[in-house]
Amino acid sequence: MTEKKASREICDFSKYLNEVYQRYYVVGNQEIFTVKFRAYLKQLIKKLNEASFDDLKKYRNANCLSNCLPGHSIRCALLAMGIAKELGLRQSEITEIGLGAILHDIGKLFIPREILDKPCKLSEVEFDVIKTHSEIGFQVLKKQKWLPVSSVQIVHNHHERLDGSGYPNHLAGDEIHRHERIVGVADVFDAMTSKRNYREALSYEFAFLEIVKESPQMLDGHIVLVLGDLIKKHSHSQSELTKQIKMRRELCHYPCVK
Ligand SMILES: [Fe+2]
Repeated sequence: MTEKKASREICDFSKYLNEVYQRYYVVGNQEIFTVKFRAYLKQLIKKLNEASFDDLKKYRNANCLSNCLPGHSIRCALLAMGIAKELGLRQSEITEIGLGAILHDIGKLFIPREILDKPCKLSEVEFDVIKTHSEIGFQVLKKQKWLPVSSVQIVHNHHERLDGSGYPNHLAGDEIHRHERIVGVADVFDAMTSKRNYREALSYEFAFLEIVKESPQMLDGHIVLVLGDLIKKHSHSQSELTKQIKMRRELCHYPCVK
């Protein structure tokens, strides 16, 4: 994998997503995915399944004009599938997670661009509009019979949090499926380590330590630790990270929901 290839993939995915958006209005909800797109998606998931953690950086540095949503979706799928592999999940589950992760933010296609691309922090009202994207995504995908139900549920529930503070349905604890919790962690990590209009990207290590602070209440601690192991394997500054992971493991106070 090279940055050039990563750019091409993000641009291709972006074109397909634009097509979905247009088809939604022209041919209706049930026909939004062409046979070509479905075949492409299958190939993309296969490629991401074989990609390494280091490829995340290539996708992040990829030079593509519409990198934001497609780039984030691709990285999220790569990361979530990486975590799922570390957890020893079956290949069929890893593929379902990949499909859910790559489509997790599809509802954002239907959020006004002036809110999505706002170059500063969002107001409460604007944030409420953004928060509708997981329900919109679910409504758009629920009639797609070719998609596994668990992938569609990932789209619906990737912003749910263990303490019930998430959205859209304030699910809590084991009401949130492990696949959804994996994509939830991958999503937060990629958002923090990506540049935003209003802030620079955080380093992997800093983002991980921030997530650790929040994870006992909101994210699955076991999944967070697996993410930590993945970062540690690929990190150059390991000392603080290793110390934190070891400390958290010893304390073992996470509400780890199976
Ligand atoms: Fe999202």
